[in-house]
Amino acid sequence: MAHVLVVGGAGYIGSHMVLALDQAGHRVTVLDDLSSGHREAVLAGRLIEGSLGDGQLLDGLLASDPPDAVMHFAAFIEVGESVRDPGKYYRNNFAATQVLLDAMRRHGVDAFIFSSTAAIFGEPRSVPIDEAHPKGPINPYGRSKWMVEQLLEDYDRAYGLRAVALRYFNAAGADPEGRVGERHDPETHLIPLVLQAASGRRESITVFGEDYDTPDGTCIRDYIHVVDLCQAHLLALDALLDGAPSARYNLGNGAGYSVREVIDTARRVTGREIPQRLGSRRPGDPARLVADSRRITAELGWSPRYGDLEDILRHAWVWERHMAGV
Ligand code: UFG
Repeated sequence: MAHVLVVGGAGYIGSHMVLALDQAGHRVTVLDDLSSGHREAVLAGRLIEGSLGDGQLLDGLLASDPPDAVMHFAAFIEVGESVRDPGKYYRNNFAATQVLLDAMRRHGVDAFIFSSTAAIFGEPRSVPIDEAHPKGPINPYGRSKWMVEQLLEDYDRAYGLRAVALRYFNAAGADPEGRVGERHDPETHLIPLVLQAASGRRESITVFGEDYDTPDGTCIRDYIHVVDLCQAHLLALDALLDGAPSARYNLGNGAGYSVREVIDTARRVTGREIPQRLGSRRPGDPARLVADSRRITAELGWSPRYGDLEDILRHAWVWERHMAGV
């Protein structure tokens, strides 16, 4: 059993991680400033309200109850917003993360698990995307994450701080028991928006472009169940606690689904109509993003339990019905 500090544990993926750690028998402390997370989403462990960029707060926390490892989910994630307000992204996603890592160094905490993203690859040159694919983020969000990955390499080399960077493709789904789920405000992600159109909280779903070079003309993404993401974190944690070196892994199902397939599957799963409109392309959307996750399977034994899009949508639908009260 380990003590894990979960930064951003009140957010979408963080709140699922807190449950997974608790279930696995670990002790959890959550640090979250609740700027986009929700107090009631923290269903295990102790919640400390504060920022990862507050070095003094971190000193107190790491001195009084030092964790064995730190997991970091506290990032802003909206690509469009990062273009309009890059300062917010570099400040929080990069600079505040450095404050956290420096505090870990001061207190001798040397195991870190970082939520990275497919956005570090930019427009893909080949698909599926493996770890060696060239990095070329095309927006401040992706750049802020790639900068942290580079900093982590330097911190390992110089200070021996070991880190696993997990590059999520499209995180989706919810706790199968419906205890927590996705709750962004504003919501920009396809699956929750489609389900909001199914529940009646939204009039329709707009498809951003039907003229991509894909079989049905809509963009293809690799949706990965949040519970499978958490499982990858647990494996990375075990590896780091066993003394494994730093690593970087791409995390997806390896299966791509188009926007239209997502909407059609959601109609089947929910039994609802889901009105659909056609909109123009959203700037910066690559036609196809699919992960090659063979490295984490080979090295850590990870394999997705909910690889099926139907499972992802069924669990997300349990949560949406709860949110919508239908
Ligand atoms: N889409 C629509 N209509 C909508 C919302 C989305 O058609 O109302 C489409 C998008 O154009 C895209 C697909 O659905 O083709 C998925 O879009 P999401 O916004 O759900 O997810 P992204 O693929 O844009 O983003 C994900 C992560 C980001 C990360 C990015 C990496 O959520 O954090 O992958 O490219 F930066």
